[in-house]
Amino acid sequence: LASIEIPLSDVPEGKSVTFKWRGKPLFIRHRTAEEIAKEESVNLSELRDPQHDNQRVIKPEFLIVLGVCTHLGCVPIADAGDFGGYYCPCHGSHYDASGRIRKGPAPANLEVPEHSFPSEGIVKVG
Ligand code: FES
Repeated sequence: LASIEIPLSDVPEGKSVTFKWRGKPLFIRHRTAEEIAKEESVNLSELRDPQHDNQRVIKPEFLIVLGVCTHLGCVPIADAGDFGGYYCPCHGSHYDASGRIRKGPAPANLEVPEHSFPSEGIVKVG
C-alpha cells in the first residue's frame, strides 16, 4: 500500500492541516508546547479509550491521525469542540489535541496510522 512523505514545514505550529492518504483525510497537527503539556497531563481515568498521549505520538510536536470519526465516519473539524482538538458535527463527538475521544457518541480515539520521521523535517505515513 502507498505511503506518502510530507514536509513538516507545510504544517505551521499551532495549526492542523488536512492531507489525503489512501483516499482518507489525514490530519497533521503541529502542537504548541502548551497543547503538549495539556495532553500529557490528562488523567487516563477520564478517558473512554484510555491512552496516554505518549502512546499516540512519536514526536510530541506532531500529532498524526486519520480524519475519520470513529462513530460513523464523518470528517471532524479542527480546532473546534470542547477539548481543543477536533469536533465531529455529524452527531457531536469531541476529540482532544491528542485525537482522543472525550465526549459524544464515538467509541474510540482517532486512529494513529503507522508513521515515521525518516529525515529531518519529513514525516512518512504508511
Ligand atoms: Fe462523528 Fe457520528 S460520525 S459523531
